[in-house]
Amino acid sequence: MDTKRLAGKNILITGAAQGMGAANAEYFAMQGANVCIGDLNLEGVEAVAERINARGNGKAVAVKMDVTRRADNSAAVARTVEAFGSINIALLNAGVNKPRMFMDIDEDNWDMIMNINAKGVLLGMQEAARQMIAQGPMDDHPYKIIPVGSIVSRTAFLDVVPYCCSKYAVLAMIIGGAKALWQHKITVNGYAPGVVKTELWEQLDKDLVEIGMFEKEGQSMDHLAQTMILMKKLSTPDDVKGTAAFLCSNESDYMTGQLIMIDGGMIMQ
Ligand SMILES: NC(=O)c1ccc[n+]([C@@H]2O[C@H](COP(=O)([O-])OP(=O)(O)OC[C@H]3O[C@@H](n4cnc5c(N)ncnc54)[C@H](O)[C@@H]3O)[C@@H](O)[C@H]2O)c1
Repeated sequence: MDTKRLAGKNILITGAAQGMGAANAEYFAMQGANVCIGDLNLEGVEAVAERINARGNGKAVAVKMDVTRRADNSAAVARTVEAFGSINIALLNAGVNKPRMFMDIDEDNWDMIMNINAKGVLLGMQEAARQMIAQGPMDDHPYKIIPVGSIVSRTAFLDVVPYCCSKYAVLAMIIGGAKALWQHKITVNGYAPGVVKTELWEQLDKDLVEIGMFEKEGQSMDHLAQTMILMKKLSTPDDVKGTAAFLCSNESDYMTGQLIMIDGGMIMQ
């Protein structure tokens, strides 16, 4: 591993107490990045930061934040700048899912998912960009904003429609944000995981049994792997972190407005 590949990159990562956010934070720091990791779960991000700081390559600070609140987004950006001097990259990863059959979707389900996954990304993009614009363009490389999409940024399933709407919204913000922010030398690119074994999917698997989509826990993931994933296997955060690091690195400088699928061949367009 190139332990200097992300040296000098000061990266804010939301939703980093567990799952892909935590795995990415550790991987970026191993490559020399400084990371400010935010989450509702302060204890969780503090534990991740402790592991990173104990390892000694790259530094980490933890911040409690709710991505649905503008003030929390701007405070997390300010914490990044306070700790590391500037912000270069924002990885907007916090996200939730709660399945409902289409006719059972209520306003609470819609609002909760859209607030965190869509509004949270909008606020994160705006508050990160505001600081990047104030810092002025960097001489050598663009600033980068990386919202996290999903396979359901490009197709919809019948039992998670609000989640699909929120991730289609992320795709729209990647394209619209790229067009709006290049004048400030900020690129916007996202990645779209498929079925990743994290706490989110473990809960989703239980919830899908509860709403009657599957009979037993564990079936939903196997069903998707066998029927929809070309590679016939599920993924883990390790399958995602390389693409995430690439989007943070200088190697992705000449890209903007893109959403990269990391899904074992589920969605091909
Ligand atoms: N797991 C998958 O299969 C999968 C597939 C495609 C996309 N994704 C997306 O990838 C991202 C990470 O997913 P994961 O599977 O690692 O999830 P996860 O549940 O393991 O982690 C998500 C983190 O976000 C935090 N969070 C939730 N609401 C928040 C809020 N309002 N403010 C701040 N933090 C909040 C949680 O506390 C948690 O630590 C999400 O955007 C998710 O939608 C996941």
